[in-house]
Amino acid sequence: PREDNEPLYAVLAKADRFYREALRSHPKRNAAVDYLRQRGISGEVAAQFGIGFAPPGWNNLLKHLDAPQDAIKAGLIIERDGKTYDRFRDRITFPIHDRRGRVVAFGARVVTDGEPKYLNSPESPIFQKGREIYGLYHALQAQRRIERLIVVEGYMDVIALTQAGIPGAVATLGTATTREQALLLLRSAPEVVLCFDGDSAGQGAAFRAAENLLPVLQGDRQVRVMILPQGSDPDDLIRQDGREAFENRLNNASPVIELYLSHLHSDCDLATVDGRTRMLERASGLLKRIPDGILRETLLGRLADLTHTDPQRIDNLCRSQPPKSS
Ligand code: GTP
Ligand code: MN
Ligand code: MN
Ligand code: MN
Ligand code: MN
Repeated sequence: PREDNEPLYAVLAKADRFYREALRSHPKRNAAVDYLRQRGISGEVAAQFGIGFAPPGWNNLLKHLDAPQDAIKAGLIIERDGKTYDRFRDRITFPIHDRRGRVVAFGARVVTDGEPKYLNSPESPIFQKGREIYGLYHALQAQRRIERLIVVEGYMDVIALTQAGIPGAVATLGTATTREQALLLLRSAPEVVLCFDGDSAGQGAAFRAAENLLPVLQGDRQVRVMILPQGSDPDDLIRQDGREAFENRLNNASPVIELYLSHLHSDCDLATVDGRTRMLERASGLLKRIPDGILRETLLGRLADLTHTDPQRIDNLCRSQPPKSS
């Protein structure tokens, strides 16, 4: 029942106020404030996203709470060997809001260097990371109707794009885009642009996102993929090239089906029977999940061209194989 979770929302809201206040007035806040300023984040945007500061020390938040039980359940306080202590220490905090604007978790970054760079709340009864999308609440607040969502990897990418005046930036939370997130993204805007980091991890993430987006993509929606220069992320790029260049890249992003095919293509040598078979085998996992319609026809047609195989045969092939879990 819903009311069981009320104490968790309450303690997260209390922690949120505590961290935001610490960024404004804690005696040790200076390095955090300087760091945010150095990354070009204005006070206004910091406030918009509720950025805060978890001060150094083991029990700043703990002391601030009446009882730790709910904070332990919410992942704010760690209990180990009979001892309790703050999870987030000497870090810049990013509250994660659900669609109703309630804080359900935090991400927290070291102020300059350190390991791990980001620390996130663990999952809890009110936080499952595969179901939340960072920044979606803010995007919905800023625009009544979202024209375009830009899906990036990191908190700082969302914030940097917003700071630069590009609306609609959201992030999946350091995981592969789930089917549930794919549905939520496509329900929220007519157009989604994937804008993951220009490294192999980012490109792998884009491909896996494509695999979850394509089966739920309908004709009135568009998903495109923007390729970033090697080694840069949206935050780097917008600061290096500015807003206009970034928007040009956004407008030139390719349809997700092209990215999907070229990724499949990349390690299959289509000059050989072996390579063509491998490509079709790899595509069949996705084809099984795509309902009949224009997208399916298009994909079958493109695969048929690439592999010189009759589209009907490809269709039969993937319908006759038992579904593989992937
Ligand atoms: P900075 O620009 O250096 O602040 O980070 P970034 O956002 O560019 O980081 P990166 O591209 O390395 O990672 C993207 C996202 O993955 C981050 O925003 C986090 O959500 C997550 N992430 C990165 N590093 C870690 C880590 O060490 N631990 C965890 N749990 N998540 C991480
Ligand atoms: Mn990293
Ligand atoms: Mn990265
Ligand atoms: Mn990055
Ligand atoms: Mn970055």
